[in-house]
Amino acid sequence: MKALILVGGLGTRLRPLTLSTPKPLVEFANKPMILHQIEALKAAGVTEIVLAINHQQPEVMLNFVKEYEKKLEMKITFSQETEPLGTAGPLALARDKLVDEESSEPFFVLNSDIICEYPLLEMIEFHKTHGAEASIMVTKVDDPSKYGVVVTEEEEEASARVESFVEKPKHFVGDKINAGIYLLNPSVLDRIELRKTSIEKEIFPRIASEKKLYAMVLPGFWMDIGQPKDYITGQRMYLDSLRKKASEELVTGDHIVGNVLVDETAVIGEGCLIGPDVVIGPGCVIESGVRLLSCTVMRGALIKKDAFVSDSIVGWDSTVGRSARVVNISVLGKDGNVPDHMLCSESKVDDSV
Ligand code: GDD
Ligand code: MG
Repeated sequence: MKALILVGGLGTRLRPLTLSTPKPLVEFANKPMILHQIEALKAAGVTEIVLAINHQQPEVMLNFVKEYEKKLEMKITFSQETEPLGTAGPLALARDKLVDEESSEPFFVLNSDIICEYPLLEMIEFHKTHGAEASIMVTKVDDPSKYGVVVTEEEEEASARVESFVEKPKHFVGDKINAGIYLLNPSVLDRIELRKTSIEKEIFPRIASEKKLYAMVLPGFWMDIGQPKDYITGQRMYLDSLRKKASEELVTGDHIVGNVLVDETAVIGEGCLIGPDVVIGPGCVIESGVRLLSCTVMRGALIKKDAFVSDSIVGWDSTVGRSARVVNISVLGKDGNVPDHMLCSESKVDDSV
């Protein structure tokens, strides 16, 4: 089985992290975002993945792909646009990589910035059961206006035929939204022209009007982690799901509260209080008396004595000074530096500051 992951967005909402690293390679829970998806696809029986990219530094992506093709024994190829083709155009561009002439096997399409438990095997079953052209995963959210909203025939059913699909509606039309995971028959490719085009605005509404689009309500948690606030919320949900699965990855100890992931190469000093909802990456140094709460500290970062970090992301090799405070959805990019005693609130910090 094959899959395409849409990885062409600019990732501007995750700056300054995405100034040094392409969004799909930004770690989430100590693993590049896209690796969560690649591993889930492998577990569902996918053997070939096409990464639809446009502007990214191909060398970084190339190195990543080489490493994981070998580790996971999968074929991972690129389909590179010369100009952004939106969320449907890349499928037309990758047509030959996704389907063989004689095959009618469906393929997965994933947005690259979402996190959930990826119930892909259930989705394959669902697709077989309804037998129509396309399946999409949906989930309920409180504020549907920033997503694609899916209106189904039987609103209360876990799965149903889609009546209409409205991308980023101005007025309330429903609370089930497009979770960014699709299973499509090859015939969907006949509907997509090779130009910049949106699957949400142009393709799904048309398939829905022909009654050939079905939605399955995603079991478990879901989050689009493409912006800092949602990334932090998504991290809380993800860690909570690890707790429910009684995952041994979560650490325990006197200085740990709630759900916390710490890479084994990180060093934590005396008298710290870590958690809940904290992820600490490889090679980080957390000096004594530090308080970390609802945050991510990425590879190689240094948090000096008595500093406080909450609801924020500390990027690779950054330094948070002694008794400094990093709070309220602040994001430090690579090599960011917050001087001793400084308060950093709702701020973006990169090495140029
Ligand atoms: N290759 C390629 N080329 N990929 C692209 C391009 C492009 O021109 N533009 C966007 N993408 C990729 C992004 O990297 C992302 O993985 C995916 O397409 C969706 O783009 P976003 O920019 O993240 O869209 P969104 O979050 O505003 O909305 C989408 O996701 C929501 C769920 O998170 C839509 O699919 C909504 O309907 C959906 O609810
Ligand atoms: Mg997104």
